[in-house]
Amino acid sequence: MTRTRPAFPASRPESCPFDPDAVYTRLRAEEPVTSVSCPLGIDAWLVSRYADIRAMLTDPRLSARAASSQHMLPDYDLSKPVLPGSIVHLDGEEHSRLRRLLIGEFTVRRMEALRPYIQQIADERIDAMLGGTSAELVRDFALTIPSLTICELLGVPYADREEFDRNSQLLMTLEADRHARSAAFQRMSGYLCELVEDRLDKAESRDDLLSRLITRAYESGDPLSMDELIMLTVTLLVAGHETTASMLGLSVLTLLENPGQVAALRADPNTAVEELLRYLTVIQFGLLREALEDVVVAGQEVKAGEWLIGAISSGNRDETVYTDPDTVDLSRPHRSHLAFGFGAHQCLGQHLARIELKVALTTLFRRIPSLRLARPLGEADFRRNDLVYGVWSLPVEW
Ligand code: HEM
Repeated sequence: MTRTRPAFPASRPESCPFDPDAVYTRLRAEEPVTSVSCPLGIDAWLVSRYADIRAMLTDPRLSARAASSQHMLPDYDLSKPVLPGSIVHLDGEEHSRLRRLLIGEFTVRRMEALRPYIQQIADERIDAMLGGTSAELVRDFALTIPSLTICELLGVPYADREEFDRNSQLLMTLEADRHARSAAFQRMSGYLCELVEDRLDKAESRDDLLSRLITRAYESGDPLSMDELIMLTVTLLVAGHETTASMLGLSVLTLLENPGQVAALRADPNTAVEELLRYLTVIQFGLLREALEDVVVAGQEVKAGEWLIGAISSGNRDETVYTDPDTVDLSRPHRSHLAFGFGAHQCLGQHLARIELKVALTTLFRRIPSLRLARPLGEADFRRNDLVYGVWSLPVEW
């Protein structure tokens, strides 16, 4: 009997919108590497177990040039070359060159220096919310904190935030068509082009990430091109914004649905945030790689040119790694998860994301202990078709 090839991505169940589709449980048990068809009409090998995903993400024979989950978009143009500066799509030395330049900017120490600023934004947002008795938490809190933080880090003026938020959302949704996304990218690039030009003129006299990057690359004798700088800035802005905002919105929803877990958040925010990252795994359609040569992945032959998807939302629920993986337990002893990926492309902004989540969540539940949903969970509008999972809005009251 031939089984129909499952379609990817498989959407989260209505019954528990925090869980990945139940098909992954069966795949981990019975078909840990299986052929799926993607929206582009291309078939890929879906890798669903934790250990196999880690092995896949560290295999140099698998290229990241197909890495972007943008490739899950039904109208993506596959013939497009990788753009210069698009760090997430580059391999080998081309990738290491950019990663080396950026890594010093994202150390725990540098990110910790942003903590007072993040705390201040969280407090200001909550002060504003406490002027009333209800709020829309995504708009009034979750989107603002990462947006302001990443703008501060890069030295981007905050005045154009609404426009930036709109473009960033368009780039991440499967619901917008190719033209709308392309126009959003053009608008974002045009805006950042002016900013980069300004920094190129005055890099030595300024102390923001972009200026330091320009100076460091110049001093190393291998300056970054204008295109590279723009693409790197777009990547950081988009990567640092939607992901963290979605994690914040979903984390609040998870805590409101599991109020017994708030005590664990208060007791040990570090452990609590790692569990939320594991449980929610907001990057829902990846991670994608392309075989550069014939390889065997977890016993499956994969031909050169074929694609693989490391299903991190499945790997993070692997029952051989986590006891009772579908239960959210904010005091679960930490065991490294896949929410930030693994290997050469592991998330550069992970320390920043962790600080934002810890500060925002602990401050929110400390200052508004009576926080509750204004509408039942069943009425929440989830971003099921987006590259990053989340909720569109979250009405709350206290
Ligand atoms: C909760 C929030 C976040 C999540 C879940 C997340 C997740 C991820 C994942 C899964 C990857 C690996 C992609 C791959 O291997 O194909 C990645 C890469 C990346 N992330 Fe994040 N991210 C978050 C926040 C951030 C922030 C705040 C920043 C920057 C300020 C950032 C910047 C990046 C960059 C630049 C890469 C590419 C690294 C490379 O290719 O070497 N991310 N992220």
